[in-house]
Amino acid sequence: MESYKIHLSEAEMPQEWYNIQPDLPHPLPPYLHPGTGQPVGPQDLAPIFPMELIKQEVSQERYIPIPDDVLRIYQIWRPSPLHRARRLEAALKTPARIYYKNESVSPAGSHKPNTAVAQAYYNKMAGIKRLATETGAGQWGSALALACNFFCLECTVYMVKVSYHQKPYRRSLMHIWGASVDPSPTDRTNAGRSILAQTPDTPGSLGIAISEAVEDAATHADTNYSLGSVLNHVLLHQTIVGLETKKQLALAGEKPDVLIGCVGGGSNFAGFCFPFIPDKLKGQDLRFVAVEPTACPTLTRGTYTYDFGDTAGLTPLILMYTLGHSFVPPGIHAGGLRYHGDAPLLCLLVHEKVMEARAYPQNPVFEAARLFAETEGIIPAPETAHAIRAAVDEANACKETGQEKCIVFNFSGHGHFDLAAYDNYLEGKLVDIEFDPGEMIKKALEELPKIPGK
Ligand SMILES: Cc1ncc(COP(=O)(O)O)c(C=O)c1O
Repeated sequence: MESYKIHLSEAEMPQEWYNIQPDLPHPLPPYLHPGTGQPVGPQDLAPIFPMELIKQEVSQERYIPIPDDVLRIYQIWRPSPLHRARRLEAALKTPARIYYKNESVSPAGSHKPNTAVAQAYYNKMAGIKRLATETGAGQWGSALALACNFFCLECTVYMVKVSYHQKPYRRSLMHIWGASVDPSPTDRTNAGRSILAQTPDTPGSLGIAISEAVEDAATHADTNYSLGSVLNHVLLHQTIVGLETKKQLALAGEKPDVLIGCVGGGSNFAGFCFPFIPDKLKGQDLRFVAVEPTACPTLTRGTYTYDFGDTAGLTPLILMYTLGHSFVPPGIHAGGLRYHGDAPLLCLLVHEKVMEARAYPQNPVFEAARLFAETEGIIPAPETAHAIRAAVDEANACKETGQEKCIVFNFSGHGHFDLAAYDNYLEGKLVDIEFDPGEMIKKALEELPKIPGK
């Protein structure tokens, strides 16, 4: 019988995360203090993060042990299966072999709990009582609510306003797991109040919601901030995805030719790909394709420079591809991909041409999602569907060339709470925002921060 899924036993689950920092082509430039232009030290981050996560942010250790309490929660859904997409291959009539790593099997339905559980654990160990965070599509907020529930922490979620209304059932998940949820911008923070005063009708954005959550954490001693993507420690926790995939591909006797993932802040793509980067740096012929929406084309049209991670300018300056921290992307359905910047580790590797990026508009993305649902049965999150679009295009290219490539993508989450978007698509109402963000990007880039002393 042909196999469709490659499983690891719980005993085979990786016990350490992989830290890419010692293997980078050159060291990651530090975060800078916006007031002084000097590198940010642990004391600058201590008001909002526990020390163990600050240490992970700058660690040069290649492997970092996963605490037992975190492993025991991972065991609820990990190791996640690697699927061979045989029915999709047949529908495409491609000579390529397509695999996907299924992160939708977590209780929250995405890869996000891999870091949420770790972050809740380290905050609990540090004596913190409450975590504040932002969420776009609601995937991250629900993952953190789940994790806080396991470690008896309170959880406050600032949810981007457009998604708050588009995805009411994500809110229900967060409520079931005990979190409180507000549509951002709110009038609870200075950042929210000032944005509401300027643009009362704003759809909100991840950048705005981050400003609110950071301010909340910085102004309450018992509260820390938790970020669902972008930062080095978040990407580190997600490497469990790629480490498992590597073992599973070896069991299947496969060597991947191309690895694909969608990118919002970069955490699922990086966690999936980073454990394979040393192979490429040693000369293996291997491509990494990051996929983003044309409505928020950070890697494909952004500028590689220092910028704030949030809209209000409360975070340190980060060297990354950015569309400008004041860029507010249109309210597309892949809410989790609406972020003006990207993870600095990922940006460095794209800048060094170790990884590549491409962008797609909504309609072709939903077309690929529908084909996937028809053939493989699982309904993808709109974010995940970006990766599927690229995998389908790669497989179609193999049809042209006759190459029998091994294509592997990360299935970052299911779309069970995105059915309104699917209804819009099926009814032909999904506007493919024939929108060129060029002018907006230009304007936002004019507002890039000046680095003091530079
Ligand atoms: C299912 C899913 N995939 C991908 C993303 C994008 O985030 P990241 O780039 O950090 O993986 C999100 C963000 O909310 C998501 O919900």
